[in-house]
Amino acid sequence: MHKEIRLMSIAGARPNFMKLAAIAKAVEKHNVSNATPLIRHIIVHTGQHYDEKMSKSFFEDLGIPKPDRNLGVGSGSHAAQTAEIMKRFESVLLQESPDVLLVVGDVNSTIACTLVASKIEYSRAAQRKRPLLVHVEAGLRSFDRDMPEEINRILTDALSDLLFVTEQSGIDNLRREGVLENKIRFVGNVMIDTLIQHLEKARQSDIKKRLGVPERYGLVTLHRPSNVDQKEVLESLVDCLVEVAKKIFLIFPVHPRTFKNIKEFSLLERLQSAGHILLTEPLGYLDFLNLIETATLMITDSGGIQEEATFLSVPCVTLRENTERPVTITEGTNLLIGTNPEKILKAVEEILAGRGKEAKVPKYWDGKAGERIVKVLCATIRQGSSI
Ligand code: UD1
Repeated sequence: MHKEIRLMSIAGARPNFMKLAAIAKAVEKHNVSNATPLIRHIIVHTGQHYDEKMSKSFFEDLGIPKPDRNLGVGSGSHAAQTAEIMKRFESVLLQESPDVLLVVGDVNSTIACTLVASKIEYSRAAQRKRPLLVHVEAGLRSFDRDMPEEINRILTDALSDLLFVTEQSGIDNLRREGVLENKIRFVGNVMIDTLIQHLEKARQSDIKKRLGVPERYGLVTLHRPSNVDQKEVLESLVDCLVEVAKKIFLIFPVHPRTFKNIKEFSLLERLQSAGHILLTEPLGYLDFLNLIETATLMITDSGGIQEEATFLSVPCVTLRENTERPVTITEGTNLLIGTNPEKILKAVEEILAGRGKEAKVPKYWDGKAGERIVKVLCATIRQGSSI
């Protein structure tokens, strides 16, 4: 009988933090309720994102406990970053030997830590088995293997023992890949848990006053390598935003990768002199949520924002050819437009004319995904996990 479960969670990059927050909250709630077994939560930050505005501010805004370990890996090529996380994580895993390793999302930290844990060799004397491998937000597929995240998703799912999915497509994809039925659990969306938990607080943010934002505005984010790493593509998108800004005021918090390229490709002046485009540094969670909720529309290439916009019923123009989150299209506000400037302008005009999509909230996006996950984890450990 387990008196205590040692649960290790990994966070590395910005979109992980909202998901970790919901898990941490659910663990806390479980422990406070005196349910058994108690969970000792060990949080490891890989340091993939390290800027104050990309990392620390999220831990503060979301009340995530300070990480027990920070691997401090920083940026690098995919191979260098992934390898560095793996090297540094191995010794932490050997020292802590958790019962469960939980990873979220699809960033390099997600696959790096899963891969290490799947082959960890404890000394014979330690008599330890590798941890149960758990992937939260499993099964999503864009079917675009040029996306680094798609590779991370496929490999992490292939190695995981328990796969927690956010939408029906996740179940369908995993089944198609031959994943055993008893590994798949439809629990809902932990990112929406965090959104629900913080919406009231976000409404109190004075960000609109601080930025001097008009009543109607669009909110823009761009950071996908396919959109921002090549000059012609980024230039065309910048020109398109300048055109959109003639129709509606735009707020554009700029990701570090995007900012670097905007400067390198000499596009900063064009954005700054356009008028009606407000460039800011990356914003904290509460400020950004405040802005999404009352935005007239979103223009984005982010995965998570497609879901947040759907939950908040805000029309979302997605500058990608595919999405791994199809429920945001079939049930939500999302329009998959791609990067053709004419199509983007047309979509914006439709929304401004009041012809955006009606949306409903997808199944289990109800604020309880974290609790469902903790319940399944405890039950699995109690039964003596299948590995
Ligand atoms: C990573 C994730 C992506 C996620 C995104 C959210 C992978 C493969 N990609 O992409 O899925 O949507 O995070 O932001 O894991 N940088 C800083 N400060 C930071 C972090 C990054 O200046 O705190 C700069 C560095 O120049 C770095 C570049 O941004 O080289 C890219 O960072 P990286 O972590 O490699 O990938 P992201 O583009 O952020």
